[in-house]
Amino acid sequence: MHISCCAAVDDVSPARILAQAAVTLIRRQGRMTHPVQTIPGARPVMTRHARTKWRSRPGFAPALALLGLAAAAWSPPARAEAVPDAAPTYTISPVGWVRKTEGKTFIVIDKRYQPALMGVEELRSIWVLYWFDRNDSPAGRSILQVHPRGDRERPVRGVFATRSPFRPNLIALSHVRVLSVRDNVIEIDDIDAFADTPVLDLKP
Ligand SMILES: C[S@@+](CC[C@H](N)C(=O)[O-])C[C@H]1O[C@@H](n2cnc3c(N)ncnc32)[C@H](O)[C@@H]1O
Repeated sequence: MHISCCAAVDDVSPARILAQAAVTLIRRQGRMTHPVQTIPGARPVMTRHARTKWRSRPGFAPALALLGLAAAAWSPPARAEAVPDAAPTYTISPVGWVRKTEGKTFIVIDKRYQPALMGVEELRSIWVLYWFDRNDSPAGRSILQVHPRGDRERPVRGVFATRSPFRPNLIALSHVRVLSVRDNVIEIDDIDAFADTPVLDLKP
């Protein structure tokens, strides 16, 4: 009998560990006479003959049941896998910064972008897109589910259903009132961003 068995999952995933455990168990019972070959990233491969014989072995059902129970007990963490290599990346850099001083709040636009402010003084309010820079780490960007507002009493939600500052792309969106515009500095009423937060864009 020849069997190749492999898991098309991440190296350290519980599914792989379970699959390996089940295979080891069956081998120990002497029900597999050939070595198990594990090829990372490949799908399970088995000949029809091997599949039929393997399934009919007495130890197969208990092993499968064990595997099923263990898999059912495991709930996958709501974290993102590494971004696939094929995914495109885009470059964003701040156009300005949130500054807070003496009880006032400003958006200070990089001088290079000052011409883009023309007309902002006519707006009563603007949308500010900013970056949750304090959470910019692989861990912070892998969080996909949260208790809204960090309140454990509230049921878990996907971050796309919340305004969580933890998300794959750390983009924040806040509506603010424009008080004045002088040169490259906009005074606003307030914003829920920390001082010195990078600002990505402004829109009416
Ligand atoms: C709940 S988020 C909402 C932000 C925005 N209004 C939105 O809806 O996208 C606001 C919270 O993000 C956090 N925060 C503000 N500035 C941040 C920054 N630069 N990096 C990480 N977290 C930040 C603060 O705790 C703030 O109360």
